[in-house]
Amino acid sequence: MPALVLLGAQWGDEGKGKATDLLGGSVDYVVRYQGGNNAGHTVVVGDQKYALHLLPSGILSPECTPVIGNGVVVDPSVLLSELSGLNERGVDTSKLLLSGNAHIITPYNVTVDKVTERFLGKRKIGTTGRGIGPTYADKINRVGIRVQDLYDESILTQKVEAALDAKNQILTKLYNRRAIAVNQVVEELLGYAAQIEPYVADTVLVLNQALEDNKVVLFEGGQGTLLDIDHGTYPFVTSSNPTAGGACTGAGVGPTKISRVIGILKAYTTRVGAGPFPTELFDEDGEALRRIGHERGVTTGRDRRCGWFDAVIARYATRVNGLTDFFLTKLDVLTGWEQIPVCVAYEIDGRRVEELPYSQTDFHHAKPVYEMLPGWSEDISKAKTFADLPKNAQDYVKALEEMSGAPISAIGVGPGRDETIEINSFL
Ligand code: GDP
Ligand code: IMO
Ligand code: MG
Repeated sequence: MPALVLLGAQWGDEGKGKATDLLGGSVDYVVRYQGGNNAGHTVVVGDQKYALHLLPSGILSPECTPVIGNGVVVDPSVLLSELSGLNERGVDTSKLLLSGNAHIITPYNVTVDKVTERFLGKRKIGTTGRGIGPTYADKINRVGIRVQDLYDESILTQKVEAALDAKNQILTKLYNRRAIAVNQVVEELLGYAAQIEPYVADTVLVLNQALEDNKVVLFEGGQGTLLDIDHGTYPFVTSSNPTAGGACTGAGVGPTKISRVIGILKAYTTRVGAGPFPTELFDEDGEALRRIGHERGVTTGRDRRCGWFDAVIARYATRVNGLTDFFLTKLDVLTGWEQIPVCVAYEIDGRRVEELPYSQTDFHHAKPVYEMLPGWSEDISKAKTFADLPKNAQDYVKALEEMSGAPISAIGVGPGRDETIEINSFL
């Protein structure tokens, strides 16, 4: 059985953690391939709730090997505190594998992220302040620090020196901050080395051998399609590729190995941070979605911006990821509305536009064209099959499927593992 990719089809927080956890019991490996601890994935198992940031959601399934791939950026202090937090709750994390090629989020890059945002003022991106962007920038500029560098003090010192040469100029001369001392950074990083060492592995080799042995590998995206550095609403994006292609580069697995790409799609839309959002609501409906859907960031605690479902975005996600399936989440949150508006197209400067415009200016001007779908009032949280859903909820799902361009193979009707309607098996 080849590999599957599971990724966000909107602006993140679609319920990827729950979906990954659901499949975690039936797969051999769960792999994070991009992003870092900017992610916040909530998994509810029985009466236990877990918030994962850096670790793959598969860490909660004992049979499964969790892997942090080369494309991820790793804050060692966050990694260790997340591991010890899970150990304290009785979760065995000893199977974790961490790529020696993954880049390290250094303390100075967390500083640079925060300072840059402050200086951008009203043009800020609204980042999570975790050092993600500056770390990927260092990677591309070839001055990044990798996990393997923690095991060669001389190389580590040279690399930190090279990175800080330029960075200290910027911090002191442009941003009016104090310079950061090389030895302090090196000392801090070396302090993590021994604790991290047992997890470090050649993950590319491990994953490819696993696929040759017919093991099932699930790639878990962070963030979402519209936050992709290439395909998202640039510059209001994250600095990596959550889209399906990112799984190949971020884990070192060829595209021919991937058989299924599952897009996680919320039954409405949310966004955290700045940037365009055509269906955003500023009225009591938006408030109600936020309240009923508990739409508050897992990582930063910020309120999420809320709006109606946007089929233009869903179609775009199908295209740029080659989606084979959707997992529709949070359908239960829509219970109680008499009518539910769904955005089927945009109006841009008087024109009707059916597809996501590539032009940033056009997208900023896009106004949603809504179709009204009849709502339902019955509690759907106990539904186990599609037939258990009220007729209007079934029709809502069918309409979304038709508009979005890929089959909806599962439906979430609550946060728990078992609050899921499975229509087509993913495995
Ligand atoms: P992720 O970043 O994509 O993993 O999503 P988050 O965990 O940030 O946000 C999704 C939230 O929705 C979490 O609190 C989940 O527990 C919750 N959730 C996931 N699926 C469902 C669902 O079908 N119904 C409801 N009511 N909540 C859900
Ligand atoms: P999960 O995996 C929602 C957003 C930030 C900001 C932008 C850039 O839980 O879906 P960054 O810190 O990455 O440089 O911030 O991206 N963002 C997310 N929004 N869910 C996430 O992750 C996000 N990770 C980053 O709010 O707008
Ligand atoms: Mg999240």
